[in-house]
Amino acid sequence: MPVPRKIIIDTDPGQDDAVAILLALGSSELDILGITAVAGNVPLKLTENNARKICELAGRPDIKVYSGAIRPLIRELVTAEEVHGKTGLNGPDLPELTMKLQEQHAVDYLVETLMREEAGTITLCPLGPLTNVALALIREPRIAPRIKEIVLMGGGFFEGGNVTPAAEFNIYVDPHAADVVFRSGVPIVMMPLDVTHKALTTTKRIDAFRKLGTKVGLATAQMLEFFERYDEGKYGTDGGPLHDPCVIAYLLKPELFQGRHCNVTVETSSELTMGMTVIDWWGVTKRPKNAMVMRDIDHDGFFALLVERLGRL
Ligand code: RIB
Ligand code: CA
Repeated sequence: MPVPRKIIIDTDPGQDDAVAILLALGSSELDILGITAVAGNVPLKLTENNARKICELAGRPDIKVYSGAIRPLIRELVTAEEVHGKTGLNGPDLPELTMKLQEQHAVDYLVETLMREEAGTITLCPLGPLTNVALALIREPRIAPRIKEIVLMGGGFFEGGNVTPAAEFNIYVDPHAADVVFRSGVPIVMMPLDVTHKALTTTKRIDAFRKLGTKVGLATAQMLEFFERYDEGKYGTDGGPLHDPCVIAYLLKPELFQGRHCNVTVETSSELTMGMTVIDWWGVTKRPKNAMVMRDIDHDGFFALLVERLGRL
């Protein structure tokens, strides 16, 4: 058995973040050093709670959860209660929290861990706005060459945006943080809407979680049934896109995904296209290729992996 891959999940739960965290917790190939909460889908007070609720749901109160940035670097916080509900985890009835939050600030935790652990051994997995990751890179630029890879959910190009015609939510909320990350020189794997919109939580797929007959399976089905209703209404599809678990699935089975190495540049000036990820898919510029941009997914294989791993919890 190879040495488990060390990861830190940065997250704004969010039902899809929750399923990503459960996938990671159900996979012994991964060693979750810590989870850092960021403001995004709902305010920080809720995302820091929700991250712990999911760890307790999975029977993992040992996981260390840190609280991070309460707002984006420059812009005002924009949240998405219309998608995720008031709590950010609407759907299941999760028990009251008992897990404690770690004292240390998430950004200090990121810097200290990356400076202490062997260089090139930690993968960062951002599932929300990139504020914490950008702040860590600004606070201690020496961490950049020490990060093995950043595998993130965010952005979109051929699929357009989901919060404006041009921008996807995670990037739109903190475009300046995203700009810092995409210019950092750290190897990036990007899961944009172009790939996540091909992973739909159809009725059959949600039933497969419920048929696990476990509290994790039931909670997952209830979370996804709540989460998908907004996108089903918007896109007229059976099911909604399951964004964040694509990040963890890539770590476990990269062969599920296809993409290409491109330049990705973030719009931070125009209000019309603020937060747009301009992906040079056809290589028409001389801009440096800074991200492996995923565009295709074996969605049956993706959901089979999810059901199998969540079934272990
Ligand atoms: O646009 C989808 C992304 O925004 C997902 O990460 C979802 O959880 C929200 O954070
Ligand atoms: Ca998220």
